[in-house]
Amino acid sequence: MFDTTFDATSKPALYADLVSAARGLTAGERDAVANMANLGALVWQALPDLNWAGFYRFDGAELVLGPFQGKPACIRIPLGQGVCGRAAAERRTQCVADVHAFPGHIACDAASRSELVVPVVHDGTLIGVLDLDSPILARFDDADVAGVEALVAAVAARLGSA
Ligand code: SME
Repeated sequence: MFDTTFDATSKPALYADLVSAARGLTAGERDAVANMANLGALVWQALPDLNWAGFYRFDGAELVLGPFQGKPACIRIPLGQGVCGRAAAERRTQCVADVHAFPGHIACDAASRSELVVPVVHDGTLIGVLDLDSPILARFDDADVAGVEALVAAVAARLGSA
């Protein structure tokens, strides 16, 4: 088992530890699903106030549910639909303070109130998205966006082949 502690004194410190742990956890492993599974678990362990954390994988046509922590979720999301589909289609992070105010939000878990979705792109190819949900309104701020984008950038090369 891989156990680590995270410096929770500030978000930048927390994400610095998370990125470092993620690099270590995925080093030398080229199976994308195994890496996504461990990263989902790591994020779940490190970040407070989440009710869902995990990946959707782009299969060339749409997003398909990948490894995650949380309640069972919707399996397929067309590009452009919901927060995940928009992040994938635009290849841009979506930070949604109130999911009820997001047109087309897909409610997989009724407890979710805010959401952060970061596209996973490697060498110009869309691999999928990392999706974080929180039961707290406006749970994610600029520091979370920067931190999760740094995390994804650090490991994207290890998520690209199944
Ligand atoms: N809420 C997402 C769907 C995925 S779940 O949150 C796990 C969306 O609108 O794309």
